[in-house]
Amino acid sequence: MSIISKDIQKAVALLTDAQLVAIPTETVYGLAGNIFSEKAIKSIFSTKKRPFFNPLIVHIPSITSLNDIVTHVPEKAKLLAAAFWPGSLTLVLKKSNKIPDLITAGKDTVAVRVPNHPVTLELLKQLPFPLAAPSANPFGSISPTKPTHVENYFKNDIQMVLDGGSCANGIESTIIGFENEEPIIYRLGALPIEDIEAVVGKVLVKNKKEESPDAPGMLARHYAPQTSTLLVTNVAGEVKKHSGKKVGVLVFTSSLNDENITEIILSKEGSLQEATARLYDAMHELDTKNLDIIIAERFSEFGLGKSINDRLQRATFK
Ligand code: TXA
Ligand code: MG
Repeated sequence: MSIISKDIQKAVALLTDAQLVAIPTETVYGLAGNIFSEKAIKSIFSTKKRPFFNPLIVHIPSITSLNDIVTHVPEKAKLLAAAFWPGSLTLVLKKSNKIPDLITAGKDTVAVRVPNHPVTLELLKQLPFPLAAPSANPFGSISPTKPTHVENYFKNDIQMVLDGGSCANGIESTIIGFENEEPIIYRLGALPIEDIEAVVGKVLVKNKKEESPDAPGMLARHYAPQTSTLLVTNVAGEVKKHSGKKVGVLVFTSSLNDENITEIILSKEGSLQEATARLYDAMHELDTKNLDIIIAERFSEFGLGKSINDRLQRATFK
């Protein structure tokens, strides 16, 4: 029997009983548990095979819940939350002592966001506790953007995927921390830098592990298909080098018109929003085709193109 269900009351009951439920958000599906249940939080880490040094994001129903969770909100964090919540922005702020160390990997900060998905907002409103939720994929693999992606990963491990359809944005939230009250981007994501800078001015990006010990989850290899994957500017040229192999390509707008390859076009209209929303599903799909190699096209470093390149770079890192 499928574990995919639209029953919010069932999700409430399972979460209240310290069980895990995969929840829809506008970015990717999350593997959610009660932040105050040690049992639930430990099973998030063990189900994902995630190392304990990598902290979790806390999901709250609205900005009014923030005061219970953090002790200080910088002015620019207030501006960002007002502009983008509910939405694909995670803020890393000084944690209150109510937040268990297990959630934050012992750090004195906590990552928090208000997700923008009607089903999960309704769920969060009904629960008397916030939800910790990392992306609902095994550690290092492609994040899920459809209920079936989660079911394929975890049907033997969890009892329910709360069905909220396909994720509208399709990659993880943008993560922003603060150093001396100034915002720093720790992870590029579904909210483009340009939108953030329109609200708070120029922001620094520190999304490599070497640059930022404060962003422990920024691993060089991540979001990776099982199939060996390359990221290139000239896809047609790269395809020529692999004749005789089963090749899959992931391109932005235009077809290579080559019947010997498996091709996915991310957006025929050239929309970065559509390409982002389809990226992980396309990677999941190519990964099931038994290919020798996947060749992905590098995007222009503009808007969501930067976030897409970031994910493809990590997917192809060896
Ligand atoms: O879009 C999203 O953010 C999704 C949905 C489900 O909300 N969640 C998600 O969670 O992507 P996860 O666990 O896959 O990624 C969380 C990232 C990790 O890289 C982690 O290291 C970072 O957030 N993080 C969490 N707490 C942090 C903290 N206190 N300081 C710095 N980075 C933190
Ligand atoms: Mg993740």
